[in-house]
Amino acid sequence: MTWLITGGAGYIGAHIVEAMTEAGERTVVYDDLSTGVAERVPDGVPLVVGSTLDGERVARALTDHEVTGVVHLAAKKQVAESLERPLHYYRENVEGLRVLLDAVTAAGVPSFVLSSSAAVYGTPDVDLVTEETPCVPLAPYGETKLAGEWLVRAAGRAAGLSTACLRYFNVAGAARPELADTGVSNLVPMVFEKLTAEEPPRVFGDDYPTPDGTCVRDYVHVVDLAEAHVAAARALRASPGRDLTLNIGRGEGVSVREMIDRVTALTGHGLAPVVTARRPGDPARVVASADRAAALLGWKARLGVDDMITSAWGGWLLRHPEAARG
Ligand code: WQD
Repeated sequence: MTWLITGGAGYIGAHIVEAMTEAGERTVVYDDLSTGVAERVPDGVPLVVGSTLDGERVARALTDHEVTGVVHLAAKKQVAESLERPLHYYRENVEGLRVLLDAVTAAGVPSFVLSSSAAVYGTPDVDLVTEETPCVPLAPYGETKLAGEWLVRAAGRAAGLSTACLRYFNVAGAARPELADTGVSNLVPMVFEKLTAEEPPRVFGDDYPTPDGTCVRDYVHVVDLAEAHVAAARALRASPGRDLTLNIGRGEGVSVREMIDRVTALTGHGLAPVVTARRPGDPARVVASADRAAALLGWKARLGVDDMITSAWGGWLLRHPEAARG
């Protein structure tokens, strides 16, 4: 089988390409390189530079490479930016997906995996979020992910396409320093950035209804997340006509304060955090029930937060060698 990985030159996409390749699958990367990096695409894996909004280019890539499955990650993913530019997010994430699905169904490609997000749940008021927890996204980013799931399921049903929507919780870590996230928009890299500047990391609010007052999240290692895609791809291939919606998390809550404590301990930077105002729109607690992925895919995360932090730090040091002084 040949899998087209849209967004395969990105942080998560590149890990999926690597995991798929190690599992013996052929891959082709389709990426517009707006945030993706061509150097992340391994030798021997073809790279098609294009947008998923370009239906002709997508269609040509599908036939040129005899694609038999698609893993779709190419999307915008900044929650704050989505509030400022909602129409841009709908165009990139929803219209881009619609055009892609049009080409995929026309070409008769049988399997489709969508990169979705825990952002579809908004502010869940349950300890463990199951796939049945109501989806009430808080920002256009999560709305576009939820609308994307609807598109995938509807197109799948109509065209007999096997589909999987994977709802990622908080992704961190790297398989190797070269594959690390280069963005600084999530907790772990934001703490690294502060420590590198010898400034205290920030805790955005400590008056939440959680054990230590700081927000609780379910962090999952990108290597485990990539393995979940391999498992989903195999499940779709093994049983056509499937329609999977799965949380991809560890089922373990870690608070912001606990994460920052582990980062300072593992990096040797001892600066104590400062508490600042809440960041608008942050839910107090978002932790997955990962039972369905375990039951249906036989997938379970293996790596913990220490692995996420140390591997992400390795990537950070590659780009910020001055941070090693701590
Ligand atoms: C985690 C916690 C912050 C930085 C977002 C998207 C989600 C997904 C992942 C997708 C929050 C706190 C952060 C800092 C802090 N995006 N924090 N100090 O908001 O849970 O999820 O990213 O592609 O859809 O919503 O992740 O890493 O930004 O924040 O206290 O310097 O860390 O307030 O509670 P979040 P995050």
